[in-house]
Amino acid sequence: KGKVKTQWVCCSCGHSTGKWWGQCPECEMVGTMNEFHESKLTDSKSRGGLEVSEDAVGLWLPQRPEDLRPVKLEEVNRGFNYQQWRIPLSGSFGNEVSTVLGGGLVPGSLTLVGGDPGIGKSTLLLQIAAMIANECSDYEGPPVVYVSGEESLQQIGIRADRLGIKSNIYLYSSTDIEDILTKTHGLSPRALVVDSIQTVYLKTIIGSAGGIMQVKECTAALMRFAKTTNISVFLIGHVTKSGDIAGPRVLEHIVDVVLYMEGEKYSPYRMLRAVKNRFGSTDELAVLEMSQSGLQVVSNASEMFLTQQHSDSNVLAGLAIAVIMDGSRTFLIEIQALCLTHCPVSSSLSNGINANKANIIKCVLIKQTGLHLQDNAVFLNVVSGMTVTETAGDLAIAAAICSSFLEFPIPEGTAFIGEIGLGGELRMVPRIEKRVNTLVKLGYRMCVVPKQAEKLLETEGLGKMKVVGCKDLKEVINAVF
Ligand code: TYD
Ligand code: MG
Repeated sequence: KGKVKTQWVCCSCGHSTGKWWGQCPECEMVGTMNEFHESKLTDSKSRGGLEVSEDAVGLWLPQRPEDLRPVKLEEVNRGFNYQQWRIPLSGSFGNEVSTVLGGGLVPGSLTLVGGDPGIGKSTLLLQIAAMIANECSDYEGPPVVYVSGEESLQQIGIRADRLGIKSNIYLYSSTDIEDILTKTHGLSPRALVVDSIQTVYLKTIIGSAGGIMQVKECTAALMRFAKTTNISVFLIGHVTKSGDIAGPRVLEHIVDVVLYMEGEKYSPYRMLRAVKNRFGSTDELAVLEMSQSGLQVVSNASEMFLTQQHSDSNVLAGLAIAVIMDGSRTFLIEIQALCLTHCPVSSSLSNGINANKANIIKCVLIKQTGLHLQDNAVFLNVVSGMTVTETAGDLAIAAAICSSFLEFPIPEGTAFIGEIGLGGELRMVPRIEKRVNTLVKLGYRMCVVPKQAEKLLETEGLGKMKVVGCKDLKEVINAVF
């Protein structure tokens, strides 16, 4: 007793070790290990590790004694209605968000929404709050409380005005978790939004807001609040690279649902992706667009990574279109290749495609199709800054290289789907029907697929599109070039 054990905790991934590391051994981030004394946390109760302390969690709400007994399963589900369990979110925007949540908002759930500063988290949550308020318009009492520790009430008001929100939302500006929970409990709304976890604090915990202990304890307190009151809680968390603020990663294991908002800095598109969901699947993502009046649904999500509508006269050599899946969504992606002999740069380079994969495809083309790529440096680029990780993009990469090498533009309205083996053979990829259907809808004229896929696709309504099944790369070259 009395001995203070020192722990080092990574503020990026939550990994904890007994000694300091310049680079986190778990997530390999540099300078993210923070010192932390265990006695601060557990005091007299020695629970060990970095478990969340009980006093902080139970701080604002005592447990009712009648809850403290095991209950029979039948009793738990008696009178339970699955249809009315989740709060639905309607409208096209509501549907997008609903899908990511697993089909509506679960009462008493704690959802963490993470993302880079400025990506649009506050905007999204204000819009979600408005939707919940509209859904619960016949609820007696305030349906939603939106608490901000970052902005004043006026600032939130101005934003709501710009977003055209006139819903029945209650706003509160505070950073004291006890105060927030007590006030919210008094109003007993259906949902609570806390913006952000890095600005709130618990008085009983040592350390400033945003520190690893504060964010963990505050999140645990919110979790307890959600479970005991059945109020759904949304929590915003900034992803940070600096060491003194703890990011959402350390909270992932505490909360029910983790959503991340992603997007390129200069693109208006935002993807909302579930990385953890105790009430649904994590394969779904919502595609949204930041506009003057807030986030909106993107109607043509499949085409959002296509940069140019090239007319027949200026089709570029070295450009091929791949069909990539993310969750249950299909995206069309442009892959560009440039083959150059006597290249001044010593080696090939690729952007958005793994360099090993690019080299393997180049070598397979040399060996299996006899293209004389040996003396060429091959540069590859994925237009719009995407990264292609799916093997279904292999064939489009090979097609782009062939097209540049042969200086033969691929005809407009052609797409490529398939994985390439070392023997130059084309392999099947998952959900080929779905990918091909997207192409049909977008009016594509030709699609090159692995031979096995042809049979699968026969029954589908393909409209004017020609599906070309090929056994290997040689057949692809004969069919297209
Ligand atoms: P914000 O929601 O404040 O981001 P976060 O909470 O993640 O830090 O939104 C950030 C950006 O969104 C800001 O640069 C302005 C832009 N924006 C719009 O383009 N349109 C809008 O209607 C709103 C509200 C914000
Ligand atoms: Mg914000």
